[in-house]
Amino acid sequence: MVFCVEVFGWGMMMLMGAKLLFNFCNFFYTTYLAAALGHNLVPKIKHYGSWAVVTGATDGIGKAFAQQLAAMGLNIVLVSRSPAKLQHVSEEISRQHRGIQVKTVAVDFTDGNTIYPKLKTELAHLFGQIGILVNNVGTKLPTCPIADVPAGEQFNEIINCNVMSMVRLTNMLLPAMRKKKRGLIINIGSLSGTGFSPMRTTYGATKAFVDKFSCDLAAECRSEGIVVQSILPGYVATKLPGLSGKSSFDVPTTKAYVEAVLRSLGLETRTAAYWFHKILLYWTELLYFFVPSLVQKLTVSFIGRKAQMANVNTQE
Ligand SMILES: NC(=O)c1ccc[n+]([C@@H]2O[C@H](COP(=O)([O-])OP(=O)(O)OC[C@H]3O[C@@H](n4cnc5c(N)ncnc54)[C@H](OP(=O)(O)O)[C@@H]3O)[C@@H](O)[C@H]2O)c1
Repeated sequence: MVFCVEVFGWGMMMLMGAKLLFNFCNFFYTTYLAAALGHNLVPKIKHYGSWAVVTGATDGIGKAFAQQLAAMGLNIVLVSRSPAKLQHVSEEISRQHRGIQVKTVAVDFTDGNTIYPKLKTELAHLFGQIGILVNNVGTKLPTCPIADVPAGEQFNEIINCNVMSMVRLTNMLLPAMRKKKRGLIINIGSLSGTGFSPMRTTYGATKAFVDKFSCDLAAECRSEGIVVQSILPGYVATKLPGLSGKSSFDVPTTKAYVEAVLRSLGLETRTAAYWFHKILLYWTELLYFFVPSLVQKLTVSFIGRKAQMANVNTQE
């Protein structure tokens, strides 16, 4: 009996060791090595189509996507809210990347159903050539208890912007991708969509939707040559409400973050992409599995402190 328990114990230890070793090698391969060896989809990116559509493309992560995809030789459709910023980014990309075509579409995704006929009209002549869709647009509510959000319309707006934009654009562009049997859909979720997200309940829930939708869509489309990726960033240095815009080792610049996403292209269905965010995702999901109530307590105190600091900063 003692011998059996001993053999079982050693077996379990070896299994866990092998799993840890696999996770470490896989982390290194998907984060750096595969891209260096050309095993990701970047070398074949133009095979998917000559145009890419990026939402929320005039600032932050979306702008970095537009710039880096243009640098790879793709024509870009910039979809965002402010016509002046669209014009500015379009000119910047055209200046930096000669020969690249840039089209702009100004819509406010918080408006809901009314914007999609316009988007369809603007994009229809490119349907056959659009190979890449980056569903990036997103917005946040103030970090506070849900009962303190003053206006109910804000919930419609965040759901329209973070969720409906992705679902409607995917539904609009997927039929042409299926016909060609190739396409690449990159959906930007957030680490807030995993684990607990107190005081950001609505934002976290919209991002959990993005993650679930993307993973299910990836499974649905795999056999049709369409690659879908769920990207789960931690903090990135942007002007998203509540962020300072400053970068550090754990808060990458938008350029560094998008480079990390592109390195992971086609390798992982669900990834935080940037090395530090990947470690964060791994440990939070592991702790969430083993000690959920401890993670809940730690998250409440961490986000509570952040919210307090943000309030102090806005009052100053
Ligand atoms: N930054 C982070 O730390 C972080 C972390 C996790 C996830 N994310 C996710 O990453 C995505 C991009 O975030 P970001 O930080 O790069 O944001 P950002 O710097 O605030 O840029 C947002 C972009 O989206 C556009 N936009 C915002 N609201 C819009 C609307 N209602 N209709 C049309 N366009 C709109 C903005 O255009 P205008 O300038 O014209 O408004 C801008 O081009 C979001 O989905 C966000 O949830 C970000």
